[in-house]
Amino acid sequence: MSKKVFVKSFGCQMNEYDSEKIEDILGSKNNLSQTDTPEDADLIVLNTCSVREKAEIKLFSDLGRYRKLKETRPHMQIAVGGCVASQEGKEIIKRAPFVDAVFGPQTLHRLPELINLREVTGKPQIDISFPEIEKFDNLPTSKSKHPSAMVSIMEGCSKYCSFCVVPYTRGEEISRPLDDIITEIIQLTLQGASEIILLGQNVNGYRGAMSNGKIANFASLIEYISEIEEVKRIRFTTSHPNEMNDHLIDCFGNIKKLANHLHLPIQSGSDRVLMAMKRNYTTLEYKSIIKKLRRKLPNISLTTDIIIGFPTETTNDFDLTKKLFAELEFDYSFSFIYSKRPGTPAAYLKDDTIDEIKLERLHEIQSLNIKQGEAYTKKMIGTTQRVLIDHFSKKKPGILLGKTDNNRIIEFKQSKDLLNKFVNVKVTKILGKTLVGELI
Ligand code: SAH
Ligand code: F3S
Repeated sequence: MSKKVFVKSFGCQMNEYDSEKIEDILGSKNNLSQTDTPEDADLIVLNTCSVREKAEIKLFSDLGRYRKLKETRPHMQIAVGGCVASQEGKEIIKRAPFVDAVFGPQTLHRLPELINLREVTGKPQIDISFPEIEKFDNLPTSKSKHPSAMVSIMEGCSKYCSFCVVPYTRGEEISRPLDDIITEIIQLTLQGASEIILLGQNVNGYRGAMSNGKIANFASLIEYISEIEEVKRIRFTTSHPNEMNDHLIDCFGNIKKLANHLHLPIQSGSDRVLMAMKRNYTTLEYKSIIKKLRRKLPNISLTTDIIIGFPTETTNDFDLTKKLFAELEFDYSFSFIYSKRPGTPAAYLKDDTIDEIKLERLHEIQSLNIKQGEAYTKKMIGTTQRVLIDHFSKKKPGILLGKTDNNRIIEFKQSKDLLNKFVNVKVTKILGKTLVGELI
């Protein structure tokens, strides 16, 4: 019987993508098959996140549990990867000596070797270096047969927002060459993908080498991908306001395959706070981007990230955030209470807002989320939506479920076997959180 690996992913979509790659490479190089139960595993891999403190605490509490499991299965190995690994390195082994290997987001392709070395040397192995773009050249081609496929186009971030650890844990921005990305996408379409999700910390900062020696920007990359017949919808995450140039905004008007949705983190509605965050844009600049975008696509769904209780944030600053959130009619926000991250410039600022107030602010934003999301959903009644059909309903026979461009789930009666295909569906009503529609 082949040995098994259990991979647990924390945090962002980049980590989910990396976890898939970890499974692929361990399958091809170490002949490990996947399992969903840690109790069956010969190797447990924790792909961690350190963007907020809570995620880090979670890692060590999980490790405590797996340590007990390891006592009953002594041959079992434990590897820790991702951003906490990158940040803490050998401290992880100090704190949890039963861990066998520590690797970073840029060295996940070396995990098979680290595991083997652990066995040969009898010592825990650590590699959290940043060997440029080596990672992508060493990963097996994805075997994913899913209609919706993730493709990483760049790694790292060079923006250094004052609150964020990502530039330190994932390294500086590096873009993959254009041809490599296109080749991977074509391969994925041959395996059945029709929706492509482009991933990176700042995808619109993409600057990839082309075979003619020139550099392609993100808008050109989208144009190239849209030429691939089998690709029916293109999504991307995440983008930065400073890289939203006119070429990219034009794509939203010209390329029908681009989803009618944009996730563009704003972080705060106060210019003073934005400056302290080192975001390098003002609210006016952000608003101007949205205005141009809505001129191209009036009903585009806009989602964002907001940090609540950044050091020095006053009630007035927060009121400005709420006001802007309503004014820009955001569809949804991923809102987080500020978490002090060691080594970042903001960690030196005085954080004088009490937790209770931060929590109150979070709840206020969350109720705005619900209100504005519902308003947007209501506006969708009567419209025709492009839907990728995901699965059959388990509870309602003959009902298919799929996702719209703006990630709403929609259900409708099956007329033929449309699973994994794109169809146009007219929205007829809302049922709780789900939309109901008719196939056109
Ligand atoms: N461009 C990246 C940003 C990574 S962090 C991406 O979206 O993948 C994702 C979000 O986490 C940020 O937009 C920010 O809103 C939030 N975040 C980052 N550092 C944080 C911190 N120290 N405290 C609270 N939230 C934080
Ligand atoms: Fe973090 Fe700012 Fe980059 S939020 S990932 S440093 S754009």
